[in-house]
Amino acid sequence: MKAWNKVGVVGAGTMGSGIAQIAAQAGCDVILVDSSAEALQRSREKLAKVFARLVEKGRIASDESESVQQRITRVTTLESLAPCDMVIEAIVEDLAIKTTLFQSLEGMVSEDAVLATNTSSLSVTALARGCTRPERVIGLHFFNPAPLMALVEVIPALQTEADLARHALAQMAAWGKSPALAKDTPGFIVNRVARPFYSEALRILEEGIASVEDIDASMRAQGFRMGPFELMDLIGHDVNYAVTSTVHAAFYGDSRYRPSHTQRQLVAANWLGRKRDRGFYTYEGGVRQGKEGQHVEGVAERILAMLMNEAADAVFWQVASPADIDTAMQKGVNYPKGLLAWADSWGIQELINILDSLRQRYGEERYKVSPLLRDMARQGRTFFN
Ligand code: NAI
Repeated sequence: MKAWNKVGVVGAGTMGSGIAQIAAQAGCDVILVDSSAEALQRSREKLAKVFARLVEKGRIASDESESVQQRITRVTTLESLAPCDMVIEAIVEDLAIKTTLFQSLEGMVSEDAVLATNTSSLSVTALARGCTRPERVIGLHFFNPAPLMALVEVIPALQTEADLARHALAQMAAWGKSPALAKDTPGFIVNRVARPFYSEALRILEEGIASVEDIDASMRAQGFRMGPFELMDLIGHDVNYAVTSTVHAAFYGDSRYRPSHTQRQLVAANWLGRKRDRGFYTYEGGVRQGKEGQHVEGVAERILAMLMNEAADAVFWQVASPADIDTAMQKGVNYPKGLLAWADSWGIQELINILDSLRQRYGEERYKVSPLLRDMARQGRTFFN
């Protein structure tokens, strides 16, 4: 298959601008399209600032910075994408709008041009269905901020030709990214496996076991850069609650993914986090107020056990390989260790014991041990050697 040298990006918002930058830095010629001229202008100015800083810090030579920026052409019309080897879309998260875009693109690009989507919650398969040549459609899910987060989830649709998935993995590696192959299932890898980071923390809070500050401190003590509540405040409760609700609905209401009433109340109050200066914490001039928390025994272990169980279950359901899941959580959301390697170091039986005691106490389905872990414990296996 052809290397992706001429790359089209549709949508010049947060994600599209970042993806255009990555492709240009990898040496590709990039055509960045947005229906809004203002969005294109903003994207140009932002990138110029980013590169000015990189040059200042000596991270990139000034002529290299110039040539990277010159490799990006900005236009408001799709027709310019005709010569592209691949086009990736990062427009609004709406299946009908994305489908219309792909249909227009199919009328412009060559027969073998690849159409990729940066969707984080839609079915890549459903999007491919609207195309005349669905076998050329694939998901390439970047993480925010795209130039800094190495992970790209590569998600073949049911219809995607097998060679394209392999090719996309190789191309993303050539762009300097760390790709992980994921099945086209709700939340792919990261947005599925990370759910307990938020939901179990919310449960612990709701039960009055520990405070927001203490839960955050307990997770930071494990090496996480941010605790669950400060991270939810940063992401925005509207966004985080919507992702949880989407995953919950997509899994036919599986109680493991049930959204939290506490978070819904924050959304109802419009206490959306940092962007409103109020969420679980209050902020003044972007600075978090209040005291630091204390490590509380057992809190981090409970959240981690739930994360490890979710990761193991994703392996059980063939969503991705253990290595790709560990890569995804480290390179997409900065986890200090791969969850499955971490489970190995705890001992699989130890992990099962923690989950079983939660299951016994609460009697809830959400604490059910993944069958994979039971098999592994019985056979004395680990995820990695
Ligand atoms: P954004 O709102 O920052 O940017 C979207 C851009 O697309 C806007 O500039 C808008 O003018 C343009 N646009 C909308 N419809 C268009 C069309 N039909 N033709 C041309 N341009 C159009 O959105 P953001 O955050 O960059 O997200 C884009 C996509 O990436 C969404 O599918 C989102 O789910 C996904 N995503 C977002 C992440 C994030 O953290 N923001 C992370 C990973 C994926």
